[in-house]
Amino acid sequence: MANERTFSIIKPDATRRNLTGKINAVFEGAGLRIVAQKRIWMSREMAKTFYAVHAERPFYNDLVDFMCSGPVVVQVLEGENAVAKNRELMGATNPANAAEGTIRKLFAESIEANSVHGSDSPENAAIEIAYFFAGCEIVG
Ligand code: CMP
Repeated sequence: MANERTFSIIKPDATRRNLTGKINAVFEGAGLRIVAQKRIWMSREMAKTFYAVHAERPFYNDLVDFMCSGPVVVQVLEGENAVAKNRELMGATNPANAAEGTIRKLFAESIEANSVHGSDSPENAAIEIAYFFAGCEIVG
């Protein structure tokens, strides 16, 4: 599999607990390169648009509130099989089901405050990267 890019968010529960460096160490330790990164505070509109695919789900409003409750770090990760590798590193959405050693097992507080987001496919990665980054901000 060729070099690939995926989109990642370090969520407000993790930035609040000063975990950005620890989470980045997991990515880098597994061979993913952080080729773009910025700390932002998402507006409600941004969070609503980003998670629009979940608009009909019962947790949508709470999820949007949570994602704009504090700063997040948005990132582009690059490496072999980056999408699948990042999902493996993150672990299951619900930390109660996450495997030992995964980011969510190590750090997540709950299914909502689950510390990280990662794209679920290369197609969605391209859409999510383009939503937050200009091409000139990504330096491989
Ligand atoms: P994420 O990978 O960012 O994608 C959608 C998010 O919705 C997910 O992580 C969780 O934080 C959140 N989520 C998914 N399922 C639930 C649920 N049942 N209750 C609350 N939040 C959820």
